[in-house]
Amino acid sequence: MSNKNLYSEKYRPQVHFSPMKNWANDPNGLVYANGVYHLFYQHNPFSDVWGNMSWGHATSTDMLRWQHQPCAIEPGSEPHSFIFSGGAVHDFNGSSGLGGPGAEPLVAFYTHSGDSGQQQRQCASYSLDDGLTWLAYEGNPVIANPGLKDFRDPKVFFYAPQCIWVMLVAAGQLMYIYRSKNLLDWTLVSTFGERLGAHGGDWECPDLFPLAIDGDSNNIKWVMLASINPGAPNGGSATQYFIGDFDGTNFIADDRQTRWMDYGPDSYAGITWEAAPGALQERVLIAWMSNWNYALNLPTQPWRGQMTLPRALNLVTTNEGVLLSSTPVNQVSSLRGQRQAMQPGTFRSASPSMSLPSICELKLTIGIKNADRIFGIKLYNEQGEQVEIYLDKEAEKLVLDRSKTHIDEDLKFYPYSYTADINIQDLEQLNLHIVVDSCSIEVFCLGGTVVMTALFFTHKYLNQIQLFCDSGEAELIDGEIWELKSTW
Ligand code: FRU
Repeated sequence: MSNKNLYSEKYRPQVHFSPMKNWANDPNGLVYANGVYHLFYQHNPFSDVWGNMSWGHATSTDMLRWQHQPCAIEPGSEPHSFIFSGGAVHDFNGSSGLGGPGAEPLVAFYTHSGDSGQQQRQCASYSLDDGLTWLAYEGNPVIANPGLKDFRDPKVFFYAPQCIWVMLVAAGQLMYIYRSKNLLDWTLVSTFGERLGAHGGDWECPDLFPLAIDGDSNNIKWVMLASINPGAPNGGSATQYFIGDFDGTNFIADDRQTRWMDYGPDSYAGITWEAAPGALQERVLIAWMSNWNYALNLPTQPWRGQMTLPRALNLVTTNEGVLLSSTPVNQVSSLRGQRQAMQPGTFRSASPSMSLPSICELKLTIGIKNADRIFGIKLYNEQGEQVEIYLDKEAEKLVLDRSKTHIDEDLKFYPYSYTADINIQDLEQLNLHIVVDSCSIEVFCLGGTVVMTALFFTHKYLNQIQLFCDSGEAELIDGEIWELKSTW
């Protein structure tokens, strides 16, 4: 992407994906093939509000620097006019036969939907030119609507132990699990989710994948993602996850608990990249950085909607058991420019302030033993606008407060502070890994097991950082700040 004028508008993300113009929501069809990461996404090619739903397309070799591609899958005619969310795979063993003998097409699965969401059914399209152009499978739908109002967002993956393909579909507040040998004929084999996790709204955008616990490849668990809207811990939309076992047919969660991938208001509908077996070393997720509570009112032009950073997923053992961790992919460090070290030391009330680049990455380790209750950091500017991230020891909450940023009348539900439960038992240090872009902040805490993502809109960028502690004293053990270079 080289059009500098376009990617320098007010609020334009510099290290996150956003479409050149118009509307974007969920990431779709994340697939890696022939050295290229594909990002498809819910897109309205004609306007900056939801509608004319299509699959926009971009490609990258590092998941950070994106090349825009022509719209991949466009709306059809009623009653199935809209192309809703879904996944894609590389048919590496030619099992679909699409494209003829020996062809290894990319195959995309998506929901055909009426323009007000009715008649949802699962369809497939395939590409024989690395995702540039797509042909609809003649036998569509691959799964007809079984009489459900909400039946969408197919995600497909290869289950190597049985050499079969598996599809998950969000059906009301459950996930339906299908199997197929050829990617085209699907059999419903199980359902997941009854009386498990949060059920405050529709389940959407499923994903299911194996991860090694603490990097031990002999100790594998499966993770199910279920985005939910409404019913998020901080209102509106968010993604819950379950850890358990999958045998190619049933996914059985280890417990009934609700765990959240990201407690911030602006991380939704995240899914992970698929690839031929062995082609990718890590499991990486990208999510839509917004919330259905106000997504249509965000003050950005000429685009509306952006993605989170790509996040590497891992399972880690903690004193609360095994948890899913999300951390920015290592490639993010390739964007680092000038580095500033922060002066270590103890502070009461507030540390000296330090200047902050407009787009930056921060890594902080704060000693918390002698802090009585509330301590953390604030990013601010001379106009009194600020975003705070702090730990409330008494309440055992990590707080992300964007209430003192520019508040637009239309941004209902926007100007608040958001909390994540945090277990501070035995906690001596708080590690924060933070990425700040033109209108967003992503906070990865406790090794990525507590994550908070939020958009924020300020008149001027937040150019100062200060640590604070309301009583007692906190210690900055280590602090580094890097300027990040634009990916556009
Ligand atoms: C999630 C979602 C999906 C649907 C898509 C429509 O944000 O509601 O369930 O397929 O958006 O754009």
